Amino acid sequence: MSNIENIVILTGAGISAESGIQTFRDAGGLWEGHRVEQVATPEGFAADPVLVHRFYNLRRAALTTVEPNAAHIALGRLQNVFAGEVTLVTQNVDDLHERGGASRVIHMHGELLSGFCAACSHRWRQAEDLSVETVCPACHTVGGLRPDIVWFGEMPYQMDRIERALRGCDLFVSIGTSGAVYPAAGFVQLAHAYGAQTLELNLEPTQGSAFFSETRNGPATQLVPEWVNSILS
Ligand code: OAD
Repeated sequence: MSNIENIVILTGAGISAESGIQTFRDAGGLWEGHRVEQVATPEGFAADPVLVHRFYNLRRAALTTVEPNAAHIALGRLQNVFAGEVTLVTQNVDDLHERGGASRVIHMHGELLSGFCAACSHRWRQAEDLSVETVCPACHTVGGLRPDIVWFGEMPYQMDRIERALRGCDLFVSIGTSGAVYPAAGFVQLAHAYGAQTLELNLEPTQGSAFFSETRNGPATQLVPEWVNSILS
């Protein structure tokens, strides 16, 4: 792969699997025993905000028990060392890319370590539990706070920026994602239409594999450092 200047990388749950965070599709459609509609939709939050806060509080607290793996660390190194631009887009709401050394991460599905006030749109770093009693640090509204997570039926974050990066990239790499959830699942076709090479690194073939010019199957902790070494050599 020569003459690569701009790389866009999309990661999904598979890159954090070997750190001990369960992927979505492997959990049999349940997240920690809850249906997706209960804990990952605006309607679920409106119906039972206490349950939804508890669900994300547990997931946020669980971040303190996991560590970035060799794949996160390799991408952090790539972003810091590569002479061109590496746009790192993740569907993951964990902070393992940042802890793996990446300094510029686009969290298109939000972040566990962020809070959001639906009343004034203020965002802030949230390391502690949220509850229906939490007060917004900006507008002091009580009860309007939610986890800063993009739920089903909501628009992912920073789509303009992502699309600009896809338009200008020479190489698009998808890592550890099943290609089941749009718009992320469509990035490969966009990148291809804009003239980029496309590479998929995933444990197994996915429903999007046919759209990639090259697919490699195996664990992320093996494939990603190998690929990063080849780009930096
Ligand atoms: P999925 O759970 O759908 O897919 C994870 C992918 O990672 C699968 O294709 C696995 O084969 C692969 N995988 C598992 N272990 C791996 C490993 N060690 N190395 C490499 N690959 C591995 O997760 P996502 O594609 O991230 O959305 O899911 C996309 C979105 O669906 C999530 O962001 C979430 C969910 O609903 C929202 O929350 C909005």
